[in-house]
Amino acid sequence: MQSLVILISGRGSNMQALLEARHRIDRITVISNDPQAVGLEIAKQYGVTTIALDHRGFSERQSFDNALAERIDACQPKLIALAGFMRILSDSFVQRYRNRLLNIHPSLLPAFPGLGTHARALQEGVKIHGCTVHFVTPQLDHGPIVAQAAISVLPDDTEETLAARVLQQEHRIYPQAVRWFMEDRIKLVANRVEVTGTRADETTLFSPGMTG
Ligand code: GRF
Repeated sequence: MQSLVILISGRGSNMQALLEARHRIDRITVISNDPQAVGLEIAKQYGVTTIALDHRGFSERQSFDNALAERIDACQPKLIALAGFMRILSDSFVQRYRNRLLNIHPSLLPAFPGLGTHARALQEGVKIHGCTVHFVTPQLDHGPIVAQAAISVLPDDTEETLAARVLQQEHRIYPQAVRWFMEDRIKLVANRVEVTGTRADETTLFSPGMTG
């Protein structure tokens, strides 16, 4: 039985991309730290189990993380996928799920970790921007990289247009990376990820031009 847990906080478009693409996954559970998250409603439409665990009911980060870990462990997941989960996770939480916790980040890491990535990319005048799927380590937005997709930054781009084109790419690479993980094709060698049975260029997508 292959089980996947997806953690969300908001609109859940990456979660939806994962739900659409589910492959060799018998059971999916979506957990949100915000009971109002739009993504929870979307998840229900896909008939998967949803859990709302409001972080505001906990006075300390660690007690929330412990409660979250309890819910996750009950699902016995092979993989936990963060999909717009807007919480800093405690080191002990990250350690507990070491090498089976993935995140999608809207920049070409290690550039622009943290928030406001599209605005910062525009400010810096980078010509190429994109998104990254990576393993989660205690250092924020810094773990071994599984896949990346790049797009050209166009002269008239705004934060919104850039975000929209990057998001399209997120929806391509995250399901792909999860699929590789579920098929046991991801190997971590020191800090580098190798994906068996793929050409090197399959883990890096570059889409120049208007449409992304
Ligand atoms: C995405 O841009 C993702 O990269 C970042 O948070 C955003 C979540 O969007 N971590 P959604 O909830 O998946 O639509």
